[in-house]
Amino acid sequence: MRARIAVLAGDGIGPEVTAQAARVMNAVAARFRHEFDFHCALIGAAAMDAGQPPLPDDTLAACRDADAVLLGAVGDPRYSDPNAKVRPEQGLLALRKALGLFANLRPVAPFPGIRDASPIKPEILDGVDLLVVRELTGGLYFGDKTESTRAARDVCDYTSDEVARIVRMACELARKRRGRLTSVDKANVLATSRLWRAVVQKITAQEYPEVEVEHLLVDAAAMHLLQRPADFDVMVTENLFGDILTDEASVLAGSMGMLPSASLGAAGVGLYEPIHGSAPDIAGKGVANPYGTILSAAMLLRHSLDLNDEADALETAVTRALDLGALTADIAGGAASVGTAAAVDAVIDARHD
Ligand code: IPM
Ligand code: MG
Repeated sequence: MRARIAVLAGDGIGPEVTAQAARVMNAVAARFRHEFDFHCALIGAAAMDAGQPPLPDDTLAACRDADAVLLGAVGDPRYSDPNAKVRPEQGLLALRKALGLFANLRPVAPFPGIRDASPIKPEILDGVDLLVVRELTGGLYFGDKTESTRAARDVCDYTSDEVARIVRMACELARKRRGRLTSVDKANVLATSRLWRAVVQKITAQEYPEVEVEHLLVDAAAMHLLQRPADFDVMVTENLFGDILTDEASVLAGSMGMLPSASLGAAGVGLYEPIHGSAPDIAGKGVANPYGTILSAAMLLRHSLDLNDEADALETAVTRALDLGALTADIAGGAASVGTAAAVDAVIDARHD
Protein backbone atom coordinates (compact mmCIF):
# COMPACT_ATOMS: atom_id res chain seq x y z
CA MET A 1 0.00 0.00 0.00
CA ARG A 2 1.01 3.58 -0.52
CA ALA A 3 -0.06 6.03 2.17
CA ARG A 4 0.42 9.70 2.75
CA ILE A 5 1.23 10.66 6.34
CA ALA A 6 1.23 14.27 7.52
CA VAL A 7 3.89 14.73 10.20
CA LEU A 8 3.40 17.64 12.58
CA ALA A 9 6.51 17.53 14.73
CA GLY A 10 5.57 20.58 16.78
CA ASP A 11 7.65 21.76 19.70
CA GLY A 12 10.23 20.66 22.28
CA ILE A 13 10.91 16.94 21.93
CA GLY A 14 8.24 16.67 19.20
CA PRO A 15 10.72 16.78 16.28
CA GLU A 16 12.95 14.11 17.87
CA VAL A 17 10.21 11.62 18.62
CA THR A 18 8.38 12.04 15.31
CA ALA A 19 11.61 11.69 13.30
CA GLN A 20 12.30 8.43 15.11
CA ALA A 21 8.74 7.19 14.63
CA ALA A 22 9.03 7.93 10.91
CA ARG A 23 12.23 5.85 10.86
CA VAL A 24 10.37 2.95 12.44
CA MET A 25 7.50 3.32 9.98
CA ASN A 26 9.96 3.19 7.11
CA ALA A 27 11.36 -0.03 8.54
CA VAL A 28 7.81 -1.44 8.70
CA ALA A 29 7.21 -0.29 5.12
CA ALA A 30 10.38 -2.01 3.91
CA ARG A 31 9.55 -5.25 5.64
CA PHE A 32 5.91 -5.39 4.52
CA ARG A 33 6.42 -3.76 1.11
CA HIS A 34 4.53 -0.55 1.63
CA GLU A 35 5.42 3.00 0.83
CA PHE A 36 4.74 5.81 3.25
CA ASP A 37 5.11 9.38 2.00
CA PHE A 38 5.74 11.77 4.86
CA HIS A 39 4.70 15.42 4.55
CA CYS A 40 5.98 17.69 7.29
CA ALA A 41 3.99 20.75 8.37
CA LEU A 42 4.18 23.30 11.17
CA ILE A 43 2.03 23.49 14.29
CA GLY A 44 2.24 25.17 17.68
CA ALA A 45 5.20 27.34 18.64
CA ALA A 46 7.11 26.10 15.58
CA ALA A 47 4.42 27.72 13.39
CA MET A 48 4.35 30.88 15.53
CA ASP A 49 8.14 31.21 15.19
CA ALA A 50 7.62 31.20 11.43
CA GLY A 51 5.20 34.13 11.79
CA GLN A 52 2.11 31.96 11.34
CA PRO A 53 -0.86 31.11 13.55
CA PRO A 54 -0.49 27.98 15.73
CA LEU A 55 -2.50 26.03 13.13
CA PRO A 56 -1.55 27.42 9.71
CA ASP A 57 -4.02 26.89 6.83
CA ASP A 58 -1.39 24.92 4.92
CA THR A 59 -1.02 22.54 7.81
CA LEU A 60 -4.73 21.88 8.03
CA ALA A 61 -4.84 21.35 4.26
CA ALA A 62 -1.92 18.89 4.47
CA CYS A 63 -3.76 16.96 7.19
CA ARG A 64 -6.96 16.85 5.15
CA ASP A 65 -4.99 15.54 2.16
CA ALA A 66 -3.30 12.83 4.17
CA ASP A 67 -4.40 9.30 5.07
CA ALA A 68 -3.33 9.94 8.66
CA VAL A 69 -1.57 12.51 10.81
CA LEU A 70 1.31 11.85 13.21
CA LEU A 71 1.94 14.59 15.75
CA GLY A 72 4.77 15.07 18.25
CA ALA A 73 3.87 17.67 20.88
CA VAL A 74 2.96 21.33 21.19
CA GLY A 75 3.83 23.85 23.87
CA ASP A 76 6.72 26.19 24.51
CA PRO A 77 7.57 28.17 27.64
CA ARG A 78 8.50 31.14 25.44
CA TYR A 79 4.80 31.50 24.68
CA SER A 80 3.43 30.73 28.13
CA ASP A 81 2.72 34.34 29.15
CA PRO A 82 -0.74 34.14 30.74
CA ASN A 83 -1.73 37.39 29.04
CA ALA A 84 -0.89 36.13 25.56
CA LYS A 85 -3.88 35.86 23.26
CA VAL A 86 -2.28 33.24 21.03
CA ARG A 87 -0.74 30.09 22.47
CA PRO A 88 0.83 27.03 20.79
CA GLU A 89 -1.74 24.66 22.35
CA GLN A 90 -4.52 26.42 20.42
CA GLY A 91 -3.07 24.86 17.27
CA LEU A 92 -3.69 21.35 18.53
CA LEU A 93 -7.17 22.15 19.84
CA ALA A 94 -8.10 23.80 16.54
CA LEU A 95 -6.81 20.79 14.62
CA ARG A 96 -8.82 18.33 16.72
CA LYS A 97 -11.92 20.45 16.20
CA ALA A 98 -11.40 21.08 12.47
CA LEU A 99 -10.93 17.38 11.76
CA GLY A 100 -13.94 16.42 13.89
CA LEU A 101 -11.83 14.16 16.13
CA PHE A 102 -14.25 13.69 18.97
CA ALA A 103 -12.82 10.42 20.31
CA ASN A 104 -9.38 10.07 21.82
CA LEU A 105 -8.32 6.49 22.51
CA ARG A 106 -5.61 6.13 25.14
CA PRO A 107 -4.65 2.52 25.86
CA VAL A 108 -2.78 1.73 29.07
CA ALA A 109 -1.17 -1.72 29.24
CA PRO A 110 2.12 -1.77 31.14
CA PHE A 111 4.94 -3.62 29.37
CA PRO A 112 6.46 -6.48 31.38
CA GLY A 113 10.01 -5.26 30.70
CA ILE A 114 9.48 -2.00 32.56
CA ARG A 115 7.27 -2.91 35.49
CA ASP A 116 9.87 -1.56 37.87
CA ALA A 117 9.49 1.86 36.30
CA SER A 118 6.10 2.26 37.97
CA PRO A 119 5.93 3.20 41.66
CA ILE A 120 2.78 1.04 41.91
CA LYS A 121 3.16 -2.41 43.52
CA PRO A 122 3.60 -5.25 40.97
CA GLU A 123 0.59 -7.17 42.29
CA ILE A 124 -1.62 -4.16 41.55
CA LEU A 125 -0.22 -3.88 38.03
CA ASP A 126 -0.99 -7.54 37.29
CA GLY A 127 -3.48 -7.76 34.44
CA VAL A 128 -3.77 -4.03 33.81
CA ASP A 129 -5.08 -3.52 30.28
CA LEU A 130 -7.41 -0.59 30.01
CA LEU A 131 -8.49 1.86 27.35
CA VAL A 132 -9.51 5.39 28.19
CA VAL A 133 -11.90 6.87 25.64
CA ARG A 134 -11.69 10.60 26.15
CA GLU A 135 -14.23 12.97 24.56
CA LEU A 136 -12.04 15.42 22.67
CA THR A 137 -14.02 18.25 21.09
CA GLY A 138 -16.40 19.41 23.80
CA GLY A 139 -16.56 20.46 27.43
CA LEU A 140 -14.51 23.16 29.09
CA TYR A 141 -11.86 23.09 26.39
CA PHE A 142 -14.22 24.47 23.76
CA GLY A 143 -16.92 26.33 25.70
CA ASP A 144 -17.15 30.14 25.76
CA LYS A 145 -14.42 31.87 27.68
CA THR A 146 -14.11 35.31 29.17
CA GLU A 147 -10.94 36.51 30.74
CA SER A 148 -9.86 39.65 32.56
CA THR A 149 -7.47 40.25 35.43
CA ARG A 150 -10.38 40.32 37.89
CA ALA A 151 -12.53 37.44 36.72
CA ALA A 152 -12.46 34.58 34.28
CA ARG A 153 -14.94 32.05 33.08
CA ASP A 154 -14.85 28.76 31.12
CA VAL A 155 -18.19 27.33 30.10
CA CYS A 156 -18.71 23.56 30.06
CA ASP A 157 -21.22 22.54 27.38
CA TYR A 158 -22.28 19.11 26.19
CA THR A 159 -25.21 18.12 24.02
CA SER A 160 -26.79 14.68 24.28
CA ASP A 161 -25.64 13.96 20.70
CA GLU A 162 -22.05 14.72 21.59
CA VAL A 163 -22.25 12.35 24.54
CA ALA A 164 -24.10 9.69 22.56
CA ARG A 165 -21.50 9.41 19.80
CA ILE A 166 -18.58 8.96 22.18
CA VAL A 167 -20.51 6.49 24.32
CA ARG A 168 -21.39 4.42 21.25
CA MET A 169 -17.75 4.40 20.20
CA ALA A 170 -16.72 3.29 23.71
CA CYS A 171 -19.37 0.54 23.72
CA GLU A 172 -18.24 -0.76 20.31
CA LEU A 173 -14.67 -0.93 21.65
CA ALA A 174 -15.77 -2.59 24.91
CA ARG A 175 -17.65 -5.22 22.93
CA LYS A 176 -14.43 -6.22 21.17
CA ARG A 177 -12.53 -6.29 24.46
CA ARG A 178 -13.73 -7.63 27.84
CA GLY A 179 -17.22 -6.13 27.55
CA ARG A 180 -16.91 -3.74 30.49
CA LEU A 181 -17.53 -0.01 30.44
CA THR A 182 -16.78 2.47 33.22
CA SER A 183 -18.29 5.89 32.70
CA VAL A 184 -16.65 8.66 34.70
CA ASP A 185 -18.48 11.87 35.58
CA LYS A 186 -19.21 14.27 38.43
CA ALA A 187 -22.99 13.84 38.42
CA ASN A 188 -23.31 14.84 42.07
CA VAL A 189 -22.25 18.38 41.16
CA LEU A 190 -22.27 19.10 37.42
CA ALA A 191 -25.28 19.42 35.13
CA THR A 192 -23.24 18.27 32.13
CA SER A 193 -22.34 15.13 34.10
CA ARG A 194 -25.99 14.39 34.86
CA LEU A 195 -26.74 14.62 31.14
CA TRP A 196 -23.70 12.45 30.47
CA ARG A 197 -24.83 9.77 32.91
CA ALA A 198 -28.40 9.75 31.58
CA VAL A 199 -27.15 9.28 28.02
CA VAL A 200 -24.80 6.47 29.07
CA GLN A 201 -27.65 4.71 30.89
CA LYS A 202 -30.01 5.02 27.93
CA ILE A 203 -27.58 3.94 25.22
CA THR A 204 -26.13 1.03 27.11
CA ALA A 205 -29.58 -0.24 28.14
CA GLN A 206 -31.12 0.10 24.68
CA GLU A 207 -28.25 -0.67 22.35
CA TYR A 208 -25.58 -2.54 24.31
CA PRO A 209 -27.31 -4.71 26.91
CA GLU A 210 -24.37 -7.13 26.82
CA VAL A 211 -21.91 -4.45 27.97
CA GLU A 212 -21.50 -4.35 31.74
CA VAL A 213 -21.66 -0.73 32.91
CA GLU A 214 -20.28 0.99 35.98
CA HIS A 215 -20.58 4.71 36.80
CA LEU A 216 -17.87 6.36 38.87
CA LEU A 217 -17.51 9.91 40.10
CA VAL A 218 -14.25 11.34 38.85
CA ASP A 219 -12.71 11.83 42.29
CA ALA A 220 -13.38 8.19 43.16
CA ALA A 221 -12.18 7.10 39.71
CA ALA A 222 -8.86 8.84 40.33
CA MET A 223 -8.43 6.69 43.43
CA HIS A 224 -9.69 3.40 41.95
CA LEU A 225 -7.36 3.82 39.00
CA LEU A 226 -4.43 3.30 41.36
CA GLN A 227 -6.11 0.87 43.76
CA ARG A 228 -7.71 -1.57 41.33
CA PRO A 229 -6.55 -0.67 37.80
CA ALA A 230 -6.87 -4.25 36.52
CA ASP A 231 -10.66 -4.09 36.99
CA PHE A 232 -11.05 -1.51 34.23
CA ASP A 233 -11.59 -2.37 30.61
CA VAL A 234 -12.95 0.67 28.73
CA MET A 235 -13.27 3.94 30.62
CA VAL A 236 -15.25 6.68 28.89
CA THR A 237 -15.21 10.25 30.09
CA GLU A 238 -15.42 13.89 29.14
CA ASN A 239 -12.57 15.99 27.83
CA LEU A 240 -10.94 17.47 30.94
CA PHE A 241 -11.45 14.41 33.14
CA GLY A 242 -9.90 12.27 30.39
CA ASP A 243 -6.91 14.58 30.14
CA ILE A 244 -6.26 14.37 33.87
CA LEU A 245 -6.99 10.67 34.37
CA THR A 246 -4.69 9.62 31.52
CA ASP A 247 -1.71 11.45 32.98
CA GLU A 248 -2.51 9.60 36.18
CA ALA A 249 -2.89 6.30 34.31
CA SER A 250 0.54 6.78 32.75
CA VAL A 251 1.99 6.10 36.20
CA LEU A 252 0.77 2.51 35.76
CA ALA A 253 2.74 2.27 32.51
CA GLY A 254 5.88 3.64 34.13
CA SER A 255 6.11 6.97 32.34
CA MET A 256 4.14 9.58 30.44
CA GLY A 257 6.53 8.82 27.62
CA MET A 258 5.03 5.37 27.13
CA LEU A 259 1.44 6.23 26.30
CA PRO A 260 0.14 6.58 22.74
CA SER A 261 -3.16 7.92 21.53
CA ALA A 262 -5.44 7.91 18.52
CA SER A 263 -7.92 10.70 17.87
CA LEU A 264 -10.73 9.62 15.61
CA GLY A 265 -13.90 11.10 14.14
CA ALA A 266 -16.93 9.62 12.46
CA ALA A 267 -14.91 9.23 9.28
CA GLY A 268 -11.92 10.85 7.67
CA VAL A 269 -8.37 11.30 8.76
CA GLY A 270 -7.14 10.19 12.20
CA LEU A 271 -4.55 11.96 14.35
CA TYR A 272 -1.98 9.99 16.31
CA GLU A 273 0.11 11.46 19.09
CA PRO A 274 1.79 10.47 22.32
CA ILE A 275 -0.04 11.81 25.38
CA HIS A 276 3.06 13.56 26.73
CA GLY A 277 3.88 17.22 26.25
CA SER A 278 6.80 18.99 24.60
CA ALA A 279 9.18 18.47 27.59
CA PRO A 280 11.24 21.61 26.89
CA ASP A 281 13.69 20.71 29.68
CA ILE A 282 15.06 17.75 27.71
CA ALA A 283 14.39 18.96 24.16
CA GLY A 284 17.28 18.60 21.74
CA LYS A 285 19.28 16.35 24.04
CA GLY A 286 18.46 13.08 22.28
CA VAL A 287 17.16 11.47 25.47
CA ALA A 288 13.38 11.67 25.02
CA ASN A 289 11.33 8.49 25.25
CA PRO A 290 10.21 7.61 21.69
CA TYR A 291 7.95 4.70 22.67
CA GLY A 292 4.72 6.68 23.08
CA THR A 293 5.14 8.05 19.55
CA ILE A 294 6.11 4.67 18.10
CA LEU A 295 3.07 3.08 19.72
CA SER A 296 0.99 5.94 18.29
CA ALA A 297 2.38 5.01 14.88
CA ALA A 298 1.24 1.43 15.53
CA MET A 299 -2.25 2.76 16.28
CA LEU A 300 -2.07 4.73 13.02
CA LEU A 301 -1.25 1.56 11.08
CA ARG A 302 -4.16 -0.24 12.72
CA HIS A 303 -6.90 2.39 12.76
CA SER A 304 -6.21 4.52 9.68
CA LEU A 305 -4.49 2.10 7.30
CA ASP A 306 -6.06 -1.19 8.44
CA LEU A 307 -2.57 -2.74 8.62
CA ASN A 308 -3.17 -4.98 11.61
CA ASP A 309 -0.26 -7.39 11.12
CA GLU A 310 2.10 -4.47 10.75
CA ALA A 311 0.75 -2.82 13.91
CA ASP A 312 1.08 -6.10 15.82
CA ALA A 313 4.65 -6.55 14.57
CA LEU A 314 5.57 -3.05 15.68
CA GLU A 315 4.08 -3.53 19.15
CA THR A 316 5.87 -6.86 19.47
CA ALA A 317 9.13 -5.18 18.47
CA VAL A 318 8.60 -2.55 21.18
CA THR A 319 7.96 -5.30 23.74
CA ARG A 320 11.19 -7.01 22.69
CA ALA A 321 13.24 -3.84 22.77
CA LEU A 322 12.01 -3.10 26.30
CA ASP A 323 12.69 -6.70 27.36
CA LEU A 324 16.21 -6.33 26.03
CA GLY A 325 16.73 -3.24 28.16
CA ALA A 326 16.53 -0.45 25.57
CA LEU A 327 15.30 1.95 28.23
CA THR A 328 15.36 5.73 28.04
CA ALA A 329 16.17 7.62 31.24
CA ASP A 330 12.51 8.07 32.28
CA ILE A 331 11.96 4.30 32.47
CA ALA A 332 15.43 3.10 33.42
CA GLY A 333 14.93 3.78 37.13
CA GLY A 334 18.41 5.15 37.64
CA ALA A 335 20.09 2.22 35.85
CA ALA A 336 21.97 2.61 32.57
CA SER A 337 19.80 4.20 29.93
CA VAL A 338 19.93 4.67 26.18
CA GLY A 339 19.13 7.71 24.06
CA THR A 340 16.15 8.16 21.77
CA ALA A 341 17.84 6.90 18.60
CA ALA A 342 19.40 3.87 20.31
CA ALA A 343 16.00 2.84 21.69
CA VAL A 344 14.62 3.03 18.17
CA ASP A 345 17.56 1.03 16.79
CA ALA A 346 16.57 -1.70 19.25
CA VAL A 347 12.96 -1.62 18.04
CA ILE A 348 14.04 -1.82 14.41
CA ASP A 349 16.44 -4.69 15.16
CA ALA A 350 13.88 -6.66 17.15
CA ARG A 351 12.43 -9.41 15.01
CA HIS A 352 9.35 -11.22 16.07
CA ASP A 353 9.67 -14.15 13.69
C1 IPM B 1 -3.06 16.17 25.88
C2 IPM B 1 -2.46 17.51 26.19
C3 IPM B 1 -3.30 18.59 25.52
C4 IPM B 1 -4.70 18.52 26.10
C5 IPM B 1 -2.71 20.01 25.63
C6 IPM B 1 -1.32 20.09 25.06
C7 IPM B 1 -3.60 21.03 24.97
O1 IPM B 1 -2.37 17.69 27.57
O2 IPM B 1 -3.17 15.83 24.68
O3 IPM B 1 -3.38 15.43 26.81
O4 IPM B 1 -4.96 19.09 27.17
O5 IPM B 1 -5.55 17.88 25.47
MG1 MG C 1 -2.82 15.97 28.68
